[in-house]
Amino acid sequence: MYPVTLTGPRLTLREFRSDDLDASMAVVGDEEVVRTLSFDVRDRDTQAERLAQDIARARTSPRPEYYLAVTDSTDTLIGFARMGLGRDRSGELGYAIRHEDWGKGYATEAATLMIDFGFKTLNLHRIRAACGPGNHTSQRLLARLGFTPDGRIRNHVFTDGAWRDSVLYSLPNPEKDGELVREYVGTVKIQGQPKIHFRVFASSLDEARASAVERHGEGIISVWNEEDARRTR
Ligand SMILES: CC(C)(COP(=O)(O)OP(=O)(O)OC[C@H]1O[C@@H](n2cnc3c(N)ncnc32)[C@H](O)[C@@H]1OP(=O)(O)O)[C@@H](O)C(=O)NCCC(=O)NCCS
Repeated sequence: MYPVTLTGPRLTLREFRSDDLDASMAVVGDEEVVRTLSFDVRDRDTQAERLAQDIARARTSPRPEYYLAVTDSTDTLIGFARMGLGRDRSGELGYAIRHEDWGKGYATEAATLMIDFGFKTLNLHRIRAACGPGNHTSQRLLARLGFTPDGRIRNHVFTDGAWRDSVLYSLPNPEKDGELVREYVGTVKIQGQPKIHFRVFASSLDEARASAVERHGEGIISVWNEEDARRTR
């Protein structure tokens, strides 16, 4: 899905543009912001390259992630929010806001927009987030959003010259919690490409089909549940 724009009361989440470079340096070039992220502080040239890659990646299909600029009422980038797409309809949430705007509720608003998009539009079953054990601001934010801690991963990320642990959090889709999930198998045939075989957990045939399109792209899709197929044989 491209382009994506998510609008809240004060903020808009939109696709990155090349003219976001200067504003993005207030996030990725600031030691104070990057200290609790999984990468090291970037100089302008590195960020220019990364921004170009992020812009190109947003147009790939199927899209591996929704990495969006968080912008204020003047369309200035003040942070970013990311929903990485994982296996079995799971998403991974990430966010950062430039230092001068901390404590105004912006991360809360941006994360709420992203979660809503993940559950309602991307039809995710579960969203997770990983946080440094000492990042109490982000942990309180996740708790406010309904996330609960799942445990600690040791040596999860290598930043600033050392391996660091993460605390994992997750949030199940409240509407899909408790739904009967079954395994579907199928094939996707996209013109000019070899047939792809897939296996996916879903709560309906339509959902399994949507998941295949999200993962592999539009094509001729056959999908079935093996138990149902045996019964109708
Ligand atoms: C973590 C981070 C994203 C929080 O951003 P933020 O915009 O300051 O977050 P919020 O303003 O929504 O919440 C922070 C505080 O402001 C308060 N707040 C102030 N005004 C608010 C409003 N209008 N609405 C909601 N909360 C508000 C919140 O209650 C919260 O208080 P608390 O820390 O006592 O719980 C930011 O500190 C950051 O970018 N850190 C570096 C990157 C990072 O750590 N990312 C997360 C990796 S897991």
